[in-house]
Amino acid sequence: MNEKDMGVRKLFVSTHGCQMNVYDSERMAGQLCQDGTWQETSNPEDADFILLNTCHIREKAAEKVYSELGRYKPLKDARPDLLVGVAGCVAQAEGAEIVRRQPLVDVVVGPQAYHRLPALVARAARGETQLDTEFPDEDKFAHLARRSGRRRSPTAFLTVQEGCDKFCAFCVVPYTRGVEVSRPAARVLEEARELVADGVSEITFLGQNVNAYHGEGPDGSDWSLARLVRAAAAIDGLERIRFTTSHPRDMDDDLIAAFADTRKLMPYLHLPVQSGSDRVLRAMNRRHTAEQYRHVIARIREARPDVAISGDFIVGFPGETEADFQETLALCRDIGYAQAFSFRYSPRPGTPAAERRQVDPAEASDRLQRLQVLLTRQRQAYQATQVGHTFPVLVERRGRLPGQVAGRSPHMIPVHLMAPESALGQILPVRILGSEANSLSGVLPTVPGAGGNPPNMKWSLNGGGGIPSGAEPAPSGRAV
Ligand code: SAH
Ligand code: SF4
Ligand code: F3S
Repeated sequence: MNEKDMGVRKLFVSTHGCQMNVYDSERMAGQLCQDGTWQETSNPEDADFILLNTCHIREKAAEKVYSELGRYKPLKDARPDLLVGVAGCVAQAEGAEIVRRQPLVDVVVGPQAYHRLPALVARAARGETQLDTEFPDEDKFAHLARRSGRRRSPTAFLTVQEGCDKFCAFCVVPYTRGVEVSRPAARVLEEARELVADGVSEITFLGQNVNAYHGEGPDGSDWSLARLVRAAAAIDGLERIRFTTSHPRDMDDDLIAAFADTRKLMPYLHLPVQSGSDRVLRAMNRRHTAEQYRHVIARIREARPDVAISGDFIVGFPGETEADFQETLALCRDIGYAQAFSFRYSPRPGTPAAERRQVDPAEASDRLQRLQVLLTRQRQAYQATQVGHTFPVLVERRGRLPGQVAGRSPHMIPVHLMAPESALGQILPVRILGSEANSLSGVLPTVPGAGGNPPNMKWSLNGGGGIPSGAEPAPSGRAV
């Protein structure tokens, strides 16, 4: 009997979009695999169930789903018992339309119904197409399984809050993820402890508006994100804490203070602003001004002078003029971003801004290009300031070259260096020697006379001191 006859079926998960989708994919796979009926594979051709976890944030992201589904058509034609599922924000936004456009799909499941996936798959296997995009009352987190056991990476995501009540005029998230819900603090801390027991030393708390977190504390009171971060910092073995994504309006005093008083909270903050023009911010329904954003950043920098700031920008929002765009450039110059993500506005069905008069696409592309030139320069300038300094780097994985490993600095910049396998999972002091497009290169501290290498390590450096470049920059965790 082969494995299939014995009942173990193969699951292939393809994940797009933000970190929350990465977290959700792991939990969905954990739930299907926990009783041994399913086993994950990295090859879609081996799979009995192909599950796409999708993103709806921009048109390009949503269209990717259909091109990927098209690629699975020959597999399904060859094996009609192959199941294909669509999860994530496209599933929530488009629902039955997905099956109409691509009839090979057997299961459509929205983000709030993931705990029902095993039942949906079982019914789909009997030949009934399944659609579940409800926002049920039960707590899906209580049902989604975490896979225990030693993890491949020392870093992990942990969703603490989901959904959004902000309704920015361009954004689909409040419709695809629903209203803001925070998980109880005790559950979050328990999951954090389990992750640490499995070898994780850095946890990133996730939420669409993570700093709006207000979960029930163990004592029944309302806990803020600052309180949650401080409680997590007390977990032995958890060395680094990060959180994303924050909204400028929810950056409260206590959370800013945590950057000063909580050593394990890393000096990096992703704080999207979208535009530097108050007129555009108002039209976007962001409910803050450019000045308020500058002020928040100044206060965070006061609390933690070395904090690296990251942001998101949208250019070509309906009504944006060249003068508005100049204000965005001016804001960037004032802040000085360590890294940033910028996008051309993409009209999304069902959002208010999609109905408005659009900016000429060529003009919007030109603005995006100009903004990206500035942001790239800022990133390079930021990275250049790190050269010559030594930072603790959490070594996350092997690099692309033999003998090379890669990790991140406290400021989230990818760093690659030559080090033995035993470095994986460790936080090591690394002296930064060079800066490339999206990463830094460094060496372990110099042992006198060893040219930057501890004596017991078997590799040679190019030209006595240079590090061969070419490590893939670690995934930024922001595929959107
Ligand atoms: N919850 C986060 C992230 C939302 S999506 C937040 O509030 O910041 C991530 C980024 O995608 C946004 O910050 C925004 O810059 C971009 N984005 C969202 N909708 C978009 C749209 N319709 N067109 C272009 N970019 C968009
Ligand atoms: Fe979207 Fe973020 Fe605005 Fe919420 S706060 S609507 S997730 S951009
Ligand atoms: Fe959804 Fe995340 Fe994309 S919330 S729309 S998958 S950015």
